[in-house]
Amino acid sequence: MSKKILITGASGLVGAHLTEMLLQKGYPVVHVGRTNRAGKIPAFVWNVEKGEFDAEALQGVGTIINLAGAGIADKRWTPSRRRELVESRTKSVALLYDTLSKHKHEVTTVVSASAIGYYGVGANDEIFTEQDKPGTDFLATLTQQWEAEADKIQSLNIRVVKLRLGIVLSDKGGALPEMAKPVRWFVGSPLGKGTQYLSWIHIDDLCAMFIKAVEDERLRGAYNAVSGHWVTNAEMTRAIGKMLHRPIWLPPVPGFVLKLLLGEMANLVLLGSKVSADKIKQTGFVFTYSGLKQALDSVKL
Ligand SMILES: NC(=O)c1ccc[n+]([C@@H]2O[C@H](COP(=O)([O-])OP(=O)(O)OC[C@H]3O[C@@H](n4cnc5c(N)ncnc54)[C@H](OP(=O)(O)O)[C@@H]3O)[C@@H](O)[C@H]2O)c1
Repeated sequence: MSKKILITGASGLVGAHLTEMLLQKGYPVVHVGRTNRAGKIPAFVWNVEKGEFDAEALQGVGTIINLAGAGIADKRWTPSRRRELVESRTKSVALLYDTLSKHKHEVTTVVSASAIGYYGVGANDEIFTEQDKPGTDFLATLTQQWEAEADKIQSLNIRVVKLRLGIVLSDKGGALPEMAKPVRWFVGSPLGKGTQYLSWIHIDDLCAMFIKAVEDERLRGAYNAVSGHWVTNAEMTRAIGKMLHRPIWLPPVPGFVLKLLLGEMANLVLLGSKVSADKIKQTGFVFTYSGLKQALDSVKL
């Protein structure tokens, strides 16, 4: 029988879908989260702030998948929110390191979420690969700190894979339903210049990539988790309009308006990047959804 897979932050968008895909493949799954959600999956509680982890959760576990972190787009980035965004990630991974170094366990692999925000924003024709240096803005710095904590786990003789997630397309949450809302109400329009690139991935492909990282022991280090078929913000808005049979007739929302409303957080939608999927493809990973139309056709908005 396969060893168990422990998932942190499993109540979120990716964790819920990944859990279902792992169960379908016959993997036993354990969840670790901030509250005990009684359900079909055995669940344990951790307290990242206080550095508390129920070591019982590690029993029979061979792999940890770390997805925990406060929602990047959930609240305005005040100084205290920025601290929360960083520490909910760095302290979570540090707690995993601490627990694995202090307790007896059979964990051989840790797969941690990261983000393509690592690269910052490139020039328009720049395509980021895993070889590229990190950016310097808030998200890039956050992501570097997050990955640096994950890297420390390698010193425990554990294989570490970091998946740098692009924008995850799902009908259950994340960016897509938010982008679809104004379009549905006939007030959808591109944001800012509309020429900024979105590097996206369908949630099925993303979860298949997590499973590949668990199963394929050749994978180590960072991999971009994107489809490699980036589109501009305007193209994405028009594609959603087509899907919902809504015209996109309004002019783009000016960037300064979004900055006034959201502060630096507006950069989440005003800036973008082209990110390569070549490295994961070279491992033999095959995407189910490569084109945006095919990906959007598969979701129910
Ligand atoms: N979705 C995307 O487009 C995308 C893109 C790039 C990167 N990512 C990253 O990938 C990871 C998974 O994404 P997701 O979309 O599934 O995220 P999500 O829906 O926001 O779920 C993240 C989970 O982290 C836990 N969490 C929230 N606040 C926390 C805190 N302060 N301290 C510790 N844990 C906390 C929660 O689980 P419990 O309540 O069970 O503790 C939450 O369900 C996240 O770290 C996210 O930043 C996502």
